Amino acid sequence: MARRNELPDTGWELIKADALPAPPYFQRYTLAEHMHGPNPETKHPMEGFPQVCFIKNTVRNPNIVIGDYTYYDDPEDPENFERNVLYHFPFIGDKLVIGKFCAIARGVKFIMNGANHKLSGVSTYPFQIFGNGWEKVIPAPGDLPFKGDTIVGHDVWIGYESLIMPGVKIGNGAIVASRSVVVSDVEPYTMVGGNPATLIKRRFDAEIVDKLNAIAWWNWPIEKITEHLKIIVSGDVEALRECAATI
Ligand SMILES: CC(C)(COP(=O)(O)OP(=O)(O)OC[C@H]1O[C@@H](n2cnc3c(N)ncnc32)[C@H](O)[C@@H]1OP(=O)(O)O)[C@@H](O)C(=O)NCCC(=O)NCCS
Repeated sequence: MARRNELPDTGWELIKADALPAPPYFQRYTLAEHMHGPNPETKHPMEGFPQVCFIKNTVRNPNIVIGDYTYYDDPEDPENFERNVLYHFPFIGDKLVIGKFCAIARGVKFIMNGANHKLSGVSTYPFQIFGNGWEKVIPAPGDLPFKGDTIVGHDVWIGYESLIMPGVKIGNGAIVASRSVVVSDVEPYTMVGGNPATLIKRRFDAEIVDKLNAIAWWNWPIEKITEHLKIIVSGDVEALRECAATI
């Protein structure tokens, strides 16, 4: 009998024979050779489980760029991921860029550069936004803190209700623990957590991280990703390198 956390060799029959009630995301296996995972152009790739959304298909803001297969999981309006990108004003022009195959949990928020008030004076109160004579203290260009674009790499997992501050860069393969406040850059293949988020652990040695970044499996054709999926989710980096050589 197939264990529920292992892919069976065939699809429906084995799952049914398992006789355990399977959550919806385990019920749709079909391991036909010609299949290569979900359609990245669909909004809700898991039938019967609409809270998971491939958000590149719902985001409309041109300053938010999302890669294929990156999903946002939220039982409340998962299509409206943009509501979690805060203080993101077009006149500032900063971008949120998220790579491919990222998993973004419910309530993750990105604070963008428009959130910042002038810090260099005595008062941080934004008098100018109220006009009526107060516009005389409109900050000059460069007066407001600007931390640049927020960049999230590929294969990044961002835990429940984490907060990502402006200009943060999160490397490929990183994990952000739930409810973290990420105020500084996160190195690839590290796990960070807390407020402010600090290193919990390095997932791989630096030399392996270089190899993984060079392999960049997320850029392979989807047929190759599907073919080598078991190795991608294993810890066998050498086997992954051998696969990469055939791409
Ligand atoms: C980060 C995470 C993956 C770590 O998993 P793990 O390695 O099995 O966790 P452990 O319980 O062994 O904790 C490892 C260390 O991380 C710390 N840690 C775990 N979660 C943390 C959090 N949210 N914030 C700060 N530190 C955290 C632990 O205190 C522990 O520290 P220590 O080594 O100093 O004792 C997990 O805690 C987490 O946050 N997962 C995200 C879950 C989520 O939000 N899912 C949403 C649906 S996709």
